Amino acid sequence: MRRHVIAAATAGAGALVLTACSPSLEPGTNEGDVLHLALNQTETHPSYIALDNWGRYMEEQTDGRWTIDIYPNETLGAQAEAMQLVSDGSVEMAIVSGPQLENLNRDFIALNLPTTFDDIDHQMRVIAEESIVGELFTSLEETNNFTVLGGFTQGNRSVYTTFGPVETPADLAGMKLRVQESDLNVAMAQGLGASATPMAYGELYTGLQSGVVDAAENNEVSYATQRHFEVAPHWSYTNHLVGLDYLIINTAMLESMTPQDRAVFDEGWDRARDEHVALWLEATEDAVATAKAGGATFHEVDDTVFDEALEPLAERFLTNDNQWRIYDAARAASTQGA
Ligand code: GCU
Repeated sequence: MRRHVIAAATAGAGALVLTACSPSLEPGTNEGDVLHLALNQTETHPSYIALDNWGRYMEEQTDGRWTIDIYPNETLGAQAEAMQLVSDGSVEMAIVSGPQLENLNRDFIALNLPTTFDDIDHQMRVIAEESIVGELFTSLEETNNFTVLGGFTQGNRSVYTTFGPVETPADLAGMKLRVQESDLNVAMAQGLGASATPMAYGELYTGLQSGVVDAAENNEVSYATQRHFEVAPHWSYTNHLVGLDYLIINTAMLESMTPQDRAVFDEGWDRARDEHVALWLEATEDAVATAKAGGATFHEVDDTVFDEALEPLAERFLTNDNQWRIYDAARAASTQGA
């Protein structure tokens, strides 16, 4: 069965109109399709590279029956829109950040808290553990028609500003810090000492440039690939969060694959995750070099002050047993002690 998605650029809207003409997808019968994937990163970002190689692998292993067509740079809209497109089946896959999923099922908060993960290894171990994340990853199938397949790390996130270094939360007093769109992220900004401005990723360069916001927080790779260093040249290593991106796929599409093709798909996704981790450290070093060459200054600060400021968020945001179960299991998988 083939599905056809016609993408037509609409003038100025920065969005694409997608028309899906798809008959119903019979489970286990689909021998080939184009998997359109919405991404908000550039073509040089490790997520794009690993996903693109996964697509090549799928094509090779299925004699071209399956392909992955990536739309980078928010071409299909910001993550909130991309998630909606995957829900309604007009786009098959997307990479979305943890806070987006928290808006659909608050149990994802357990994996979005600044105190959940110590580092990338710990994070990758936890999200590969079926007993911890299995139910969570299928929890949106009934309500939103998509399945979470796993994740890519966002590494350590730190604060960067237009105005100077941030050594303590007091340095952010009265400043507007752009955060991802979620309650927890708003509270995180406040914990960091700032006032929160939730905003889509693609709007941030202009937001910093025009002074709508004074600061943002992300990893070095996003800082460099989005060229935010041009408009916010002061990076401070607050290391306040190890963030997580998720790969989501329309559940009917996932289930439509023949068992043989599903095995190839899964193997390719495993490889993509391994490749992403391998690319990450190098991409981080390259990003720092690019940003420095572009005039950025990287400030070493005492990050324990920020950790302490954000510690109370777990007690405040984990409100049911399931959230605590996931959070406690994730913490128990820490090698630095729970
Ligand atoms: C990172 C992450 C994205 C997210 C972005 C953001 O770049 O990988 O998925 O959208 O941060 O801060 O919005």
